[in-house]
Amino acid sequence: MSTTTISTNTSPRKKVTTLTFRQKKERGEPLTMLTAYDYPTAMAVDKAGVDSILVGDSLAMVVLGYENTLPVTMDEMLHHARAVARGAKSSLLIGDMPFMSYQVSVEDALRNAGRFLQQGGMDAVKLEGGRERADAVRAITGAGIPVMGHLGLTPQSVHQLGGFRAQGKTASAAKRLFEDAQILEEAGAFSLVLESVPARLAEYISKHISIPTIGIGAGAGCDGQVLVTHDLLGLFERFTPKFVKKYASLHETMTQAFADYIDDVESKRFPAVEHTVEMSDEEWDAFQKELK
Ligand code: KIV
Repeated sequence: MSTTTISTNTSPRKKVTTLTFRQKKERGEPLTMLTAYDYPTAMAVDKAGVDSILVGDSLAMVVLGYENTLPVTMDEMLHHARAVARGAKSSLLIGDMPFMSYQVSVEDALRNAGRFLQQGGMDAVKLEGGRERADAVRAITGAGIPVMGHLGLTPQSVHQLGGFRAQGKTASAAKRLFEDAQILEEAGAFSLVLESVPARLAEYISKHISIPTIGIGAGAGCDGQVLVTHDLLGLFERFTPKFVKKYASLHETMTQAFADYIDDVESKRFPAVEHTVEMSDEEWDAFQKELK
């Protein structure tokens, strides 16, 4: 049974900003981030008090059923970003730039980052990659749009990486990853996701850059943690990465609820009297007369 209480205070939390991110790192307070792709989930995640909501391109896999994150488009991301923005009032909202929305040119990157704020209601954007993205990060932050970087296992490069595999495990790969983190910091990123990298490397990077790191499969030495909400809730059954902690089994809960409903309808237990609309005897008699 959970011992964590959810605040019943009806006044909204103070809005989390990129400044909050910096201050929490300075104070050594862990940052929390979760993904959301729709209005009710965004409401619940925001109400629970998460620092930041990522409208992740993991949408492609956990909501749209694709094999990887590559097929999801800018328009689809914006559609879900708007729903999340309507549901969350206090968390920092980050739109994940989908495959091919920032790789072709810096102009494309800037235009599409702007769309996340202008049309998607987001506060910031996230993009994958290191030194090869430095110009894009500079241009986007130069336009006043906060950028979160993403290093390590970068799912949009799944084919180049040869699968969803941990990164930075050799001395040279670790050095390159650390350099990339420094380059992104220098380019103006306000924070950095580290995905599937050795815990000791993630901790080293976190201690040697000034911007907060948010880990996923990167151990406890990061400045914050992120999980894909569908993994945490047990809603995505296809596979569960090793680094996920499941806090619920909603796929089973949902399947059971649907089976109960089918059973109720088939055995005529639903709808019951309390689920039906009544009509007075007087009106019913009048109706019968109308028919004659
Ligand atoms: O798309 C996503 O959900 C992500 C997180 C795993 C960081 O990029």
